[in-house]
Amino acid sequence: MGRLIIVSNRVPSPRERTQPAGGLAVGLRDAVRGGSSMWFGWSGNQAEGEGDPEPSFDTVDGVTYATIDLTESQHEGFYQNFSNGILWPLFHYRVGLMNYSRRDWQIYLEVNALFARTLVPLLKPDDVVWVHDYHLFPLGQALRDLGVTTRIGFFLHIPVPPWSLVRSLPGAELLLEDLQAYDLIGVQTDEDADNLNQSFRVNGLTERARAFPIGIDPHEFRAQAEAGVGSDEAERLRASLRGAALVLGVDRLDYSKGLPERFRGYEALIARYPEHRGKVTFLQVAPVSRGDVEEYRLLRRQLDELTGRINGAYAEFDWTPIRYITRPIARDILAGFYRMADVALITPLRDGMNLVAKEYIAAQDGESPGVLVLSHFAGAAPELDEAVLVNPYDADEIADALHQALTMGLDERKARWRKLDAEVRRTTAGSWARDFLQALDEAQATPATPAA
Ligand code: ADP
Ligand code: G6P
Repeated sequence: MGRLIIVSNRVPSPRERTQPAGGLAVGLRDAVRGGSSMWFGWSGNQAEGEGDPEPSFDTVDGVTYATIDLTESQHEGFYQNFSNGILWPLFHYRVGLMNYSRRDWQIYLEVNALFARTLVPLLKPDDVVWVHDYHLFPLGQALRDLGVTTRIGFFLHIPVPPWSLVRSLPGAELLLEDLQAYDLIGVQTDEDADNLNQSFRVNGLTERARAFPIGIDPHEFRAQAEAGVGSDEAERLRASLRGAALVLGVDRLDYSKGLPERFRGYEALIARYPEHRGKVTFLQVAPVSRGDVEEYRLLRRQLDELTGRINGAYAEFDWTPIRYITRPIARDILAGFYRMADVALITPLRDGMNLVAKEYIAAQDGESPGVLVLSHFAGAAPELDEAVLVNPYDADEIADALHQALTMGLDERKARWRKLDAEVRRTTAGSWARDFLQALDEAQATPATPAA
């Protein structure tokens, strides 16, 4: 068996305790542990000179991290504009936020070709290449163009809307054609697989998408949560709550996460159920993400204002309804906070999976577990259907769900949590990677059948 070559734009820094937030790097890091593998991607740094960059290498625990720098204009056109200003909103069903430009599409293709050129000399004939996420749709084709014949799989971490939306992207058919270079395409849910296969079908292409829902490492996360709950930070948080129930939200600061809607839902709780005033605190941790993209800056301003307004209206001199943090928090401390939280409030308007929901379940103490309030539109919802499920657009529904969660009896909390925990243990990061790679192995042996 050859090496596994992971390719993604974002590569975790293997030596740092506080990682940038994001499900791809977390899920994959849990999945690649222990194997002989290389992880190729963007360094996060800016290239100095012109010409193709030289990769830098770092090997930690058997995984070699090979990364390249991008120039400022590559970073802007490829990452900020095309990946995060066009593809991200489109695939999260927010066509109105898509800011299309042909020039950015061109730079996106050029950076994908650059990834291919720099990766090819590092490949060996029996390697298996596994490409990740929307930044790299055309990479498989770019590698094939350079003569790569090994198996190449692709996994898309974000949702896939129906063709009627995808076609809003000028030239969407070209992206779909490029995707044909992959031997297998994994997506998070059956709905995503149906939508992508529909897009292939109506364009006369071969259906190659299958659902492989990503998971976490629940044992490791539980251990982190158990340790984290005894940390100084957790002690300080507990003391500061002075007996109030803790409602926790943890998300990158992203418009797909439904944060303004969530804040309004919490406001509706304290407005309509005054018995919770002074008895509950909502802590939202939302590290700034993609801060150079306009929509993200606007969202940040909106949340600053909303937090100020709600706190101004409802706070007492000894109680603050919302605590809002935009810095990242180290994972082990965060795990302790999850365990302490009476309720996790996770209400994306659309989300590929949402690993935070799974982490929250894994972190609970089974003797007195907390309650997960989860959006129907998280990719995790079909698996985690024992959560209190809500429509995130309805502030009153969020308020009712929070009230239900905060007043739920121990027996019901335990019964729901046991089923949720069984789900989180069923598909882990490790089993997800194994299942995908096995299917990739079989996909090459059986050539895909053309669409009827
Ligand atoms: P996304 O991939 O859209 O960011 P996920 O919920 O799937 O959403 O994954 C987010 C990952 O980032 C989780 O593993 C979570 O623990 C981590 N994370 C989120 N917020 C923070 C934070 N404030 N500090 C550190 N890690 C975070
Ligand atoms: C999501 C995407 C990932 C991305 C992560 C963090 O999980 O699916 O591809 O890495 O968000 O976003 P960033 O732009 O910081 O890489």
